Amino acid sequence: MFVRVSVRFAVALCLLLTSFALLSVAGEKPLYVDGIDAAFPPFSYIDENGDPAGFDVEVVQWIAGEMDFEVKIVPIDWDAIIPTLKIGNIDMIASGMTITQKRLEQVDFTDPYWSIDLAVIVREEVDEEGEPFPQFNIFSAIAAGRTIGVQRGTTSQTWIEENLVDEGVAVKLKLYDSFLLAVEDLLIGRVDAAVMDEPTARSAIAGRDATIVGTINTGEIYGYAVRKGDDELLSLLNEGLKRIKASDEWDRLVEKWLIGD
Ligand code: ARG
Repeated sequence: MFVRVSVRFAVALCLLLTSFALLSVAGEKPLYVDGIDAAFPPFSYIDENGDPAGFDVEVVQWIAGEMDFEVKIVPIDWDAIIPTLKIGNIDMIASGMTITQKRLEQVDFTDPYWSIDLAVIVREEVDEEGEPFPQFNIFSAIAAGRTIGVQRGTTSQTWIEENLVDEGVAVKLKLYDSFLLAVEDLLIGRVDAAVMDEPTARSAIAGRDATIVGTINTGEIYGYAVRKGDDELLSLLNEGLKRIKASDEWDRLVEKWLIGD
């Protein structure tokens, strides 16, 4: 008696669970986790309410809606972001990442969506007439003897290493976990200059005593990164990029985040 009841119960339970599983598979959209640097405005950051914000965040959210997938956006240390993608804790990186030869050995990139140069920023002081003047010009800012702040693991770090340090120009490179920390140290005089992607420089110095004294024309191209061989997500993103670029939403987001003010 007991055995019969429990077998029946087990069968019923199995049927119930199976139908739930089928239901949820049929009704659910695929979920992809997007890793961002929490301190890279205007492309990606965590805002004062703790929510992800920025150009890349809104582009990816639009693409997810358009291409019918769910996206969860999580902050990841920039320095660890590619290893985190490779081990599968995140599925994509949409965070102002430059497509480089070295990264292409480790990840796949979408089609390019934006392009930038590097900006050199210095402290700005005020002269007797109350006029602001920068501490250095573009040449003296990155000359021998200067201490330059950059974010660790970025193209800014690579550019300074390859073009100054390796060429025998005795600059001191100070590495930070984020560009925003480099700007804080610049403002209190711990570094003489900071180098970073130009849109981020503009956003980071807005309203602060710092200014852009020039740009290094690296002409870097941004793409979204996915795990090598993840062609399914790669084509969703590429198709999504194609559609958003053809829509008014693209102009609205470019205006809002990248060229507005
Ligand atoms: N574009 C530069 C690079 O790829 C800087 C990117 C920094 N991005 C970020 N989310 N911190 O290295």
